[in-house]
Amino acid sequence: MNKKPFLIVLGLALVFEGAQCQEREVFVALGSVAVLPCVDETSAVSHPTAVYWSRIVGNALKTVWRREKSGLEFRPVRNPPRANCPVPNFGKADYSLHIAEITFEDGGKYICEVEGKTRMTKLINLRVVKASLSPAVVVEGSRIEATCHVSPGTQSIKFNWKRNGSSASRMSRASISSVSQRDAGTWTCQVSYNGRVVEATTSLEVKGIIIPQDEFSVVYADVGSSVSLPCVFTDGLIPNTVIWNRTSTTSNAHVPLPASFEASAGPSASAAIQRVEDGDEGMYTCSGMMSGLNGERIKVQRKMELVVSRVLRSSSSSGNGPVTLTCNLSNSDQITSYEWLRVTYGPNDTQTVTSVQKTKSFRIQESTEKNAGEWVCRYYRNEELLGNATYHLLVMGAVKSENSSSGNKTALVMGLGFMFLVIFLILFQMYRNYRRKRKILLYPAMETIVHQAATEREQRERCRGKMAEACVGEPKTVCV
Ligand SMILES: *[C@@H]1O[C@H](CO)[C@@H](O)[C@H](O)[C@H]1NC(C)=O
Ligand SMILES: *[C@@H]1O[C@H](CO)[C@@H](O)[C@H](O)[C@H]1NC(C)=O
Ligand SMILES: *[C@@H]1O[C@H](CO)[C@@H](O)[C@H](O)[C@H]1NC(C)=O
Ligand SMILES: *[C@@H]1O[C@H](CO)[C@@H](O)[C@H](O)[C@H]1NC(C)=O
Ligand SMILES: *[C@@H]1O[C@H](CO)[C@@H](O)[C@H](O)[C@H]1NC(C)=O
Repeated sequence: MNKKPFLIVLGLALVFEGAQCQEREVFVALGSVAVLPCVDETSAVSHPTAVYWSRIVGNALKTVWRREKSGLEFRPVRNPPRANCPVPNFGKADYSLHIAEITFEDGGKYICEVEGKTRMTKLINLRVVKASLSPAVVVEGSRIEATCHVSPGTQSIKFNWKRNGSSASRMSRASISSVSQRDAGTWTCQVSYNGRVVEATTSLEVKGIIIPQDEFSVVYADVGSSVSLPCVFTDGLIPNTVIWNRTSTTSNAHVPLPASFEASAGPSASAAIQRVEDGDEGMYTCSGMMSGLNGERIKVQRKMELVVSRVLRSSSSSGNGPVTLTCNLSNSDQITSYEWLRVTYGPNDTQTVTSVQKTKSFRIQESTEKNAGEWVCRYYRNEELLGNATYHLLVMGAVKSENSSSGNKTALVMGLGFMFLVIFLILFQMYRNYRRKRKILLYPAMETIVHQAATEREQRERCRGKMAEACVGEPKTVCV
């Protein structure tokens, strides 16, 4: 049985020099199915009597798959067998060997030998491509190394590392000193040889904050609206270590968080401002501690700038004159265009939005009842709608068209009545004070006399109620 491979080893040098035999390179990614070609293109070997597939290991040949003249098949003892040479293909003169779940160790030289009327021998060089990342699970900000191995190695190949579709390196080894969430996902090593490309993939898991993905982002909110500041951690977060901070955009100094700021606990440490006020703008930072591979503590954070938008009103004249509305943002660096809209409400609260002008400021010719109601300024960054600011134009005599309920009106009337009462009382008191001051100014001496007389009368009354000795020590006072 072992006679045949032994003969092949002896005859290798001779056979491979012959025209029949060319060495074929086959590149295959780790884990995939390799097909080692052995096709009788010229159909010279009709009616094969035997097919031998063996592998050169050191100086010896090892049978991988074999079919004898008798039709008996031999394959290495392995369950389930990975190597197979599909017999039905023999009819098409195809004796290729299929190896499933290629391992790195499968790389090497293989020999296909077919015996029929003539003999055909093929030598195949199988190269296995393996992509690996070290480590494959990291906390963002850490360093990783990507390596693309080919077994057995060769000079004539080109490498291209691709991360998330875009080229990352043209070397077989690449490293990233500070990994970000954008590096997570599939990494692909492309190996090119003779115009053919084989891809091996691996994946990277980056622990940290998944939402938002970027270190820095901008959030827009209208005054009076609510806004959410996202901050979602992957697992690995050390509990109770999430801190939200706020710094002023201008001075970088710490400023307190707004009154209606609320942060949730746990991996989703997202925060919300229930009602955005003028002045809430600034840089908000969400930071938390993650446990690294060796249990070390690694700080991860996201910065979000809150940009507050509002409509500023300026009117040159009072009454029903023109009004200019300006869309104002605490930071308008990213804004490329504005759009003013008129919002009207029909029956059943149907909203109608009409675009009126594409400018930052908008001039309403007259503040009459016709123009009362909702005006909205939308702001964009290159066609992308970032947010809007709403203004309710109040017009005298148009109060009816406002959406205030009767309960609100009663409160308003009572409030106004109370205010007038308070003002009246204050004015009345001021008038009395004024009267008194005037008297004093007119008769300053009289005030002193009146005061003295009053004091003397008081003392006399006190003395009368007491025993005589009690007054001895008071020479100025005469008890009558
Ligand atoms: C891949 O890239 C796209 C566009 O650059 C990005 O939107 C996406 O988040 C990236 N995917 C990952 C997993 O980082
Ligand atoms: C948040 O503020 C605290 C106290 O001022 C400080 O210790 C911490 O480093 C700050 N965190 C960030 C991310 O700025
Ligand atoms: C509008 O906002 C900017 C900040 O972006 C501010 O400096 C400016 O004073 C505001 N404009 C008006 C008219 O208040
Ligand atoms: C308002 O809603 C009612 C009931 O849903 C419907 O019958 C009516 O046609 C609606 N009116 C308008 C103007 O859409
Ligand atoms: C303004 O923004 C709010 C919240 O994003 C949205 O609900 C509303 O429909 C917008 N209004 C207009 C007129 O675009």
